[in-house]
Parts: sequence; structure tokens; C-alpha cells
Amino acid sequence: MPLPKAELHLHIEGTLEPELAFELAARNGVTLPYADTEDLREAYRFDDLQSFLDLYYGLMAVLRTERDFADLADAYLARAAAQGVRHAEIFFDPQAHLARGVSMGTVVEGLWRALGDSEARHGVSTRLIMCFLRDESAESAMDTLMAAKPHLDRITGVGLDSAEVGHPPVKFREVYEAAAALGLRRVAHAGEEGPPEYITEALDVLGVERVDHGLRCMEDPELVARLVRDRIPLTLCPLSNVRLRAVDALADHPLPAMLEAGLRCTVNSDDPAYFGGYIGDNFDALPLTDEQQRELARNSFLAAFLEDDEERRAA
Ligand code: ADE
Ligand code: ZN
Repeated sequence: MPLPKAELHLHIEGTLEPELAFELAARNGVTLPYADTEDLREAYRFDDLQSFLDLYYGLMAVLRTERDFADLADAYLARAAAQGVRHAEIFFDPQAHLARGVSMGTVVEGLWRALGDSEARHGVSTRLIMCFLRDESAESAMDTLMAAKPHLDRITGVGLDSAEVGHPPVKFREVYEAAAALGLRRVAHAGEEGPPEYITEALDVLGVERVDHGLRCMEDPELVARLVRDRIPLTLCPLSNVRLRAVDALADHPLPAMLEAGLRCTVNSDDPAYFGGYIGDNFDALPLTDEQQRELARNSFLAAFLEDDEERRAA
């Protein structure tokens, strides 16, 4: 029996396996620039975050209808359940779909078709977190937040992802203030490729409750002390870090040292279809003791946004 755990850092578009990509391409009459699934997998050799993002956004061309988003999410939930996931907080990137003429309603309601049945079908409770693309403008993020207003009963929080360096959290101050006023929880990617200062800024300016990745906090002992003191959860993704070369090798991954430092770490899969494994594979990739594995699983539930959204917003 795999250890029961919550997944808190998972981009649903990053669960698009090559087989499903070709199936959706055929269903929607989209021609992919790859001969077959093997040819596509061959392209999964990344130099950094940007080289991955180029492919990731390109492959989204096959996602067009509510059914596509439902099939994508249902396939992820089945795989996650098999690796012990009992609760999943799922990121999605609406701007990448709106830019292709796919509406917010298609994305959210499509995902919800799978998420709404997930407890019954897979034994996995779910939340949705809408991410803003930080390499797009703050105005575009605000427009996206406004476009999501009719769907806020489906959305628990907001996040910030895409190309990090050169796009500091402060750029999104007003958007996060507006999200907070709407009762949304706040997280952000910070310290994946960007400097430790972005982590501090995400906490101080955006008011985030969790930091996605947060890897580079280890360069700043005062920041580590603050994160430990305030029990700020970090959602780490070891296989992603190696594939995107944020760390050189799994043996060099700082997660064991981060646990040792007292940080509230969690292990997650980020974009599992691209990085060689789902959450259990990320747990297995590191030299962790049984006690450390249990600590990571416990942390994942402590860091989850488990309370009822409606009750929280009404309070
Ligand atoms: N979008 C999908 N995966 C991402 C990652 N690891 N970092 C930033 N943006 C992303
Ligand atoms: Zn991510």
C-alpha cells in the first residue's frame, strides 16, 4: 500500500501523456509536429525551465473541449490514486487556453466534470488553483481573474507560474490583493530558478500561504529561519528540478538537508508526464528514511487547503 499523501503542486496540463496527446489530436483534427509518441518523448530533453515551457505550451494545442479537459484530469486522478494520493490541489493555466480561443468556462467546467466525481471514482478529494503566467502582463492576469469570477465556486486559490527570472512577485501585487478580496487562497512559484528574494517578496507582497518549489531558500539562512519559524510549507518537486536542471542530479537534491533544517517540505510531481514520474516516483527518487517519508506525507496534509471553501468564505 503506498503511503497516503496529498499532492499540492501539480499542473494539470503537465499530466498530458504522449498517448493522450495523440488521441486528442486525432479527435480534434490537430496536426502535431511529431511523428508518433516515441518521437514526442525524444523531445523531452530540457536545458532549463524555458525549454520545457516552449514544448508544454505547444502541446496544449490538442486541448479544445470540455471533454478533453475532463479526460486529462480523470487520467491524472487515476494515476495519482494508484500512488497513494488522497487529496490533490490542481493548478491550471487559463491564459494558455484563452489565448488559443478556448474559454474559461470550457476549461473550468471540463476539469470539474472529472474533479466533481473524483471522490467517488478515485477516492481523491480535490481543489483547483488558477495560475497566472508571470511572463504575461499584470493586466492580463487581472483580466483572467475577472474572467474567472463566474466560476469561483470551483476555484480555491490562485498561483503564479511560468518563466520566473525577470518576473518578480511584486509585478502581481494588485492581482493578489484582488484575489484575496475575493476570498481566494494564495500560493506562488518562487525560488525555482529565481533568487531567494523572490520567495521573501511572495510572502511579504503577495501574502502567499505556501511557496511552490522554494528550493533556492537554502542560499539565505535568514530566510530559512523565517520559513521554519512561520512553518511555511514548500512544495518541492525533485524529478522536475533534475529534468529542468535546477539541481545537477538527484544525489545533490537539497530536500534531505531542508528537512534536517526543519523546513515544512512536501514532495510533489509538478509536470509528471514530462519529468519521468508521478508523486510516488518522486518520493522513491530520493534517499529518504521511512520516518522522513512519513514526515513528508504528514506535511502534505498539514499544508493542504482542506477546509470547506464556502464555509471559509462565509466566515
Ligand atoms: N508551469 C508548469 N510547470 C512549471 C514549473 N515547474 N515552473 C514554472 N511554471 C511551470
Ligand atoms: Zn510548477
